[in-house]
Amino acid sequence: MDLVPNLFGSTIGRKLIMAVTGLLLILFVIGHLVGNLQVFEDPDKINGYAHFLQSLGPTLWAVRIALLVVVGLHIWAATVLALESRHARGDEPYAVRRWLRATFASRYMRWTGYVVLAFIVYHLAQFTLGYAQPDSFKTNLAHYTMRSDYHVLGITVVRAGTEVLDVRTMVIRGFSNPLVSVFYIIAVGLLSLHLLHGAESLFQTLGLKDDRWAAGLRLVVTLGCAAYFLGNLSIPGSVLAGILR
Ligand code: HEM
Repeated sequence: MDLVPNLFGSTIGRKLIMAVTGLLLILFVIGHLVGNLQVFEDPDKINGYAHFLQSLGPTLWAVRIALLVVVGLHIWAATVLALESRHARGDEPYAVRRWLRATFASRYMRWTGYVVLAFIVYHLAQFTLGYAQPDSFKTNLAHYTMRSDYHVLGITVVRAGTEVLDVRTMVIRGFSNPLVSVFYIIAVGLLSLHLLHGAESLFQTLGLKDDRWAAGLRLVVTLGCAAYFLGNLSIPGSVLAGILR
């Protein structure tokens, strides 16, 4: 059987692409949040962590390119599936709205998706490329000198005394602008709603949703998304509240 054309050329194949790319993106955003929460620890932590990621060189580029491909496939599959289902139910203005019984999160997948995409573009411009707030971009700040070693899985990856970029100060200065912080909070709120419906659909597509544990699954996914939102909110929120300085 020719698996690749089937994956791209059939509805179930595209749903599978949505589910698998969605799962990879969920793993990325959770990993990114866990890494970012080090901002609440000693400055050595988040700065050592960012330096370690930058030092990965070609591996970092491979991950970046893989992420771009995954995001591209996710958007492509979502678009084709949406066009297909619109075509299947016809486009008359008075057509019965099938989503009447759907949840808020599921109805607005497309719109929450657009906002998340716009957020990612802004976020890269801000923290990766330095276009959005150049004065507080990491390469325009004084270097930070590591006071202790930074370890990953017990291995020393950044030594005390190394001069690294001050990512912690960049993040705090960035979020000192209330407009930026509020935009982040709204975007991660919508991302959490996107994940809420996405995670449930993912279980369904992969055949892991069963009537017996559907309610339990919904509870676990809801709590997980709420925790994800609060974790992300805590960073700009703490800067705005003056707790993180
Ligand atoms: C409060 C929330 C967040 C904070 C504080 C934060 C912080 C950062 C920082 C500091 C960087 C640059 C790292 C460096 O200097 O090497 C970065 C990069 C990035 N962030 Fe976030 N982030 C947040 C939320 C998100 C979310 C929700 C997403 C995805 C939807 C995301 C996606 C990315 C991506 C794709 C990169 C680029 C990584 C690279 O340069 O290769 N971030 N983030």
